[in-house]
Amino acid sequence: MMLITTNDQMFTLQEGETLLEGLERTGHDVEYQCRSGYCGACRVRMLAGRVDYAEPPLAFVLPGEILPCCCRPLEPLRLDCSLPKREADLFDTDLFDGARDT
Ligand code: FES
Repeated sequence: MMLITTNDQMFTLQEGETLLEGLERTGHDVEYQCRSGYCGACRVRMLAGRVDYAEPPLAFVLPGEILPCCCRPLEPLRLDCSLPKREADLFDTDLFDGARDT
């Protein structure tokens, strides 16, 4: 089980799970299209750790970037990846809080 640390969370990859699947399972905001190393949509910046690929991916990646859909972590990873920002919901806020007591 490989330990993955993101900007917001730590989790371990489950048996047979890709890094992209682990990020999705834990609610991270990662884009994807092909899920097989062709499109590059899932690119994530790796801050620490090492990965390899069963086959060299066709998608272009910059130094320090990885493709979580098809890479294999070789050691614990630290990724520049975050949980989605929650939009403010007007209905979560009691607009009249405190006004009732007056
Ligand atoms: S989803 Fe296309 S390269 Fe990862």
